[in-house]
Amino acid sequence: MNITVIGTGYVGLVVGACLAETGNPVICADVDDAKVEGLARNVLPIYEPGLDDYVERNQSQGRLRFTTDVAGAIAAADVVFIAVGTPPDEDGSADLRHVLGVAEQIGRHMSRELVIVTKSTVPVGTAAKVAAAVSRHARFPFHMCSNPEFLKEGAAIDDFMKPDRVVIGVETDHARSVMAELYAPFVRTGKPIIFMDIPSAEMTKYAANAMLATRISFMNEIANLCERVGADVDNVRKGIGTDTRIGSAFLFPGPGYGGSCFPKDVKALVRTASECGMPLRVLTSVEQANDAQKRRLSAKLRDLLGDLSGRRIAVWGLAFKPNTDDMREAASLVLIEDLLAAGAEVVAHDPVAMHETKRRLGDRIGYANTSYDALDGADALVIVTDWNEYRHPDFARIKATLKTPVVVDGRNLYDTRKMASLGFRYASIGRGVPA
Ligand SMILES: NC(=O)c1ccc[n+]([C@@H]2O[C@H](COP(=O)([O-])OP(=O)(O)OC[C@H]3O[C@@H](n4cnc5c(N)ncnc54)[C@H](O)[C@@H]3O)[C@@H](O)[C@H]2O)c1
Repeated sequence: MNITVIGTGYVGLVVGACLAETGNPVICADVDDAKVEGLARNVLPIYEPGLDDYVERNQSQGRLRFTTDVAGAIAAADVVFIAVGTPPDEDGSADLRHVLGVAEQIGRHMSRELVIVTKSTVPVGTAAKVAAAVSRHARFPFHMCSNPEFLKEGAAIDDFMKPDRVVIGVETDHARSVMAELYAPFVRTGKPIIFMDIPSAEMTKYAANAMLATRISFMNEIANLCERVGADVDNVRKGIGTDTRIGSAFLFPGPGYGGSCFPKDVKALVRTASECGMPLRVLTSVEQANDAQKRRLSAKLRDLLGDLSGRRIAVWGLAFKPNTDDMREAASLVLIEDLLAAGAEVVAHDPVAMHETKRRLGDRIGYANTSYDALDGADALVIVTDWNEYRHPDFARIKATLKTPVVVDGRNLYDTRKMASLGFRYASIGRGVPA
């Protein structure tokens, strides 16, 4: 089966590399010349653990190819995955320009019966719009599928190779059997392929992200309340997470969710709902709570340091989560803007996202080569991303380097009592008033 993946961002690249890994001939097509040119030389545009090995191996073995010739890639395909971006429009809805543009091209350039798979996260009804756009030019029969992607950046290869489940919306037996065959190598341990109708598959992706975002905002608000009433959110988290009806995942409070998916998908679902005259009150609040949470770290810093004007602040962690260099909607960006607006100076460190941060913020902040370099002359340290290397630092060195021993920890990495005993003025999320 010849596979073409259109769009080689986080999703397209992972999908293409993993389908090639199981033996399929795959062409990844993208309009970004520089990206394709780099990928052809095994230079990845993103940081994703393990992905470089997959790309290099499958490219060298001739199963994976990168091209800017989207038309040619479509003409060669039996199955086309659409994995282009669906950024938020001004009103919060998903911008489908790229998806529908690709659909037009598919209609024009398909050269045989085709299975067309929407991998991008798209609102209910999009597969029907794609089908209409393809139909305008199509000379061959085609079969629509909605196959939402649930990979997590930072663990994308594992998530794709060993998914919890695969959700596939189909309308024809042909599409069902092609997709079952394609995914068979990934579900050998008995994880389910859940076939359903297309609108339900499209909705499943939004419902999953909205549920996860809701858990985060819920726990952030519980954590904020814990601070007020003298409870410790770590205990509360364990106390509720052991309830099998609740489960322990996604209960960690923090500086607010970011990334390319939760913020945009929550907005798009809220927008879809309001267009249907069915306001989603819970999700509207989830978004508001998240926006407020992103301002908690600068507020905590002000509580500890007072006026931030003229202060120098070290920031550890810039990416929206560990093991990625993705900065989209990262909490660090809100914190940094707050600090700069207050007249503070910022020196930042991140193991992999410095390049991307420099591209966004340029010389508005300073960049340190190591986490400890960032502390030189700083009045306080703020931790935004829970990279492993920040988990067990040399506390004596931190204390000796900072001008004042102030640490604001947005990820609850350290023990509050230990930090107090070491003489730090330490604030975290939901674990009582700073010592
Ligand atoms: N990033 C994630 O973790 C994740 C997870 C699940 C689902 N998704 C969804 O998958 C989709 C893609 O996300 P992403 O993060 O990979 O996006 P991305 O922005 O990283 O990549 C999109 C790619 O599509 C290319 N592109 C745009 N228009 C094109 C066209 N007409 N022809 C060929 N290529 C074109 C762009 O050049 C870019 O390389 C989105 O809908 C997103 O919501 C993302």
